[in-house]
Amino acid sequence: MKPNANERKPVSEIYYPSERILKDAHIKDYDKLYKESIADPVGFWEREAENLDWFKRWDIGLDDSNKPFYQWFAGGKINIIHNAIDRHLKNWRRNKLALIWEGEPGDIRTYSYFELNRGVCKFANVLKSMGVKKGDIVTIYMPQIPELAISMLACAKIGAVHSVVYGGFSVEALAERIQDAHSRVLVTADGGWRRGKIKDLKGIVNEAIKRSPTIEVCITVKRTGHDVYMENDRDFWYHDLMGLPIASPVCDTEVMDAEDILFILYTSGTTGRPKGVVHTHGGYAVYTATTHKYVFDIKDEDRWWCAADPGWITGHSYIIYGPLINASTIIMYEGAPNHPYPSRWWNMIEKYGVTILYTSPTAIRGLMRFGDQWAKRHDLSCLRLLGSVGEPLNPEAWRWYYNVIGKAACPIMDTWWQTETGGFVITPLPVTPLKPGSVFKPFLGNQIAVVDENGKEVPKGEEGFLVIKTPWPGMARTIHRDPDRYVELYWKKFEKNGWYKTGDSARIDEDGYIWVIARVDEVIKVSGYRLGTAEIESALVSHPSVAEAAAIALPHEVKGNAIHAYVILRSGITGNKELVDILKEHVAHEMGSIARPEAIEFVDSLPKTRSGKIMRRVIKARALGIDEGDLTTLDE
Ligand code: WTA
Repeated sequence: MKPNANERKPVSEIYYPSERILKDAHIKDYDKLYKESIADPVGFWEREAENLDWFKRWDIGLDDSNKPFYQWFAGGKINIIHNAIDRHLKNWRRNKLALIWEGEPGDIRTYSYFELNRGVCKFANVLKSMGVKKGDIVTIYMPQIPELAISMLACAKIGAVHSVVYGGFSVEALAERIQDAHSRVLVTADGGWRRGKIKDLKGIVNEAIKRSPTIEVCITVKRTGHDVYMENDRDFWYHDLMGLPIASPVCDTEVMDAEDILFILYTSGTTGRPKGVVHTHGGYAVYTATTHKYVFDIKDEDRWWCAADPGWITGHSYIIYGPLINASTIIMYEGAPNHPYPSRWWNMIEKYGVTILYTSPTAIRGLMRFGDQWAKRHDLSCLRLLGSVGEPLNPEAWRWYYNVIGKAACPIMDTWWQTETGGFVITPLPVTPLKPGSVFKPFLGNQIAVVDENGKEVPKGEEGFLVIKTPWPGMARTIHRDPDRYVELYWKKFEKNGWYKTGDSARIDEDGYIWVIARVDEVIKVSGYRLGTAEIESALVSHPSVAEAAAIALPHEVKGNAIHAYVILRSGITGNKELVDILKEHVAHEMGSIARPEAIEFVDSLPKTRSGKIMRRVIKARALGIDEGDLTTLDE
């Protein structure tokens, strides 16, 4: 079957949960609970917060005295690690598997909660010995290996802030993020495995450090064992440090304020540099744990596989924090889904008895392309629930996932959320009737609307801006070192209503089901990865032959969207096929291969507004051969 990410036909079919799902569900009646939750959202979240261990109870559930800088569980003392690890060591779960990890070459490592704690304590002590203190920002740039999780957790344990940079990013993207965070310490690996090849992370790191003067210490995990350059007094091997007496397996968990920063995660925004989205210990812990537990009906016997990369928010919230707080057994896999054969994932599901798979539409469409036989060769009857995130899941891919992978027995949780929301905001529950392609309705406690420019709700079935009307505990608190930008980006547009602007467009149907359409800003989702047109354009312009560039997203069968770039060359330079390849490679080198443009076209001019802003909307309309819309601000 040929996948088609851009199928937009309305569907009328509805899928109901089976008896088995209904019987086991934590939440049986969404409508009733939803009504109750929004009558008193703060009360709802306070009751959920009581499921966590606090060193000191909060004074105020929601402090909204300084909008939009909301504070949740203000006055409370907590550490997310105490909830994700320490408390599980006091009962039988100390022996439960926390992590089952498989490398792409087939090597396997497992960690019980007891062992995970030892690793985290040891590395926390190593970080301390390198002078890392509460509040310091440690940058982590790694492949999907257990040490990535251990490094994140070790930072949080001692109150340091982690900034994880996705291992698929490259030199400039990494350097820019290190510089914005002013990190002194960087944790990395020599490399990782991807499609049978080594990705040379340390080579990228060495180049990025040259552009990042703040780095004093770089700790490198030996993963691939290939030759790498290590600089005296700056570079240390992880395994050497973990073997020293300073790496004691005992370490106190720092007592944090609920609103202390847990991590920053850079994400692409409307303009300029990527922004460091800030999340905190208390509200984020409550939000990720609660959403994970209810949306995926988490039970002790589950084996949970979120097949994202920890370098993105999905990995932070639903590989690491939410699942560990719920004492889940987590599956993690290093490599490509189709390496060395297209059933690698299905084989892993059977082998480890995975009960819940949470992945992206791009992965689903990519695997669907190989045909049903690859999945049919494996016994996938262990699966109970499926999930999707990152971009719209088109009905055709939905049905394939449901029928071929889930054998028509596993409801699909198509969860809508963002780096900034910390966790699921709009999502089905296992018991709710599903429409393929719709993300259902708001999660408990949340209120959303689809509105026009002026904040007026649009009629049923019409497209408008998706907004969140009320605060929630997992919300981003600010942009690192740039609170004004936080206000500007998310709260300015619907300031008089006090609503959060998501940057997405959506419509709501006659049954109240929400259908997310696309981003309405300069963010591009490629294969579910979030990139900014500005970053791609500045990578292009950093090449000596490029004078100006514009990047847009055009529909793509598997990736959802693909990057198309329009380039004005410097005078005297002629564009040809060779230069197209050179520029594509240049973007991949600077940004990472996920940002490599699908196509580059040389042009003499770009449509601009009179104030000089590139009108990407017009370029896109022309490329698609559709109406260009309002052109009154066009310069020529
Ligand atoms: C898109 C990823 C449709 C959306 C967790 C959002 C989705 C952006 C869905 C955030 C979904 C995420 N259906 N679109 N289920 N989930 N998106 O920050 O455009 O990487 O604004 O967070 O992904 O991307 P981010």
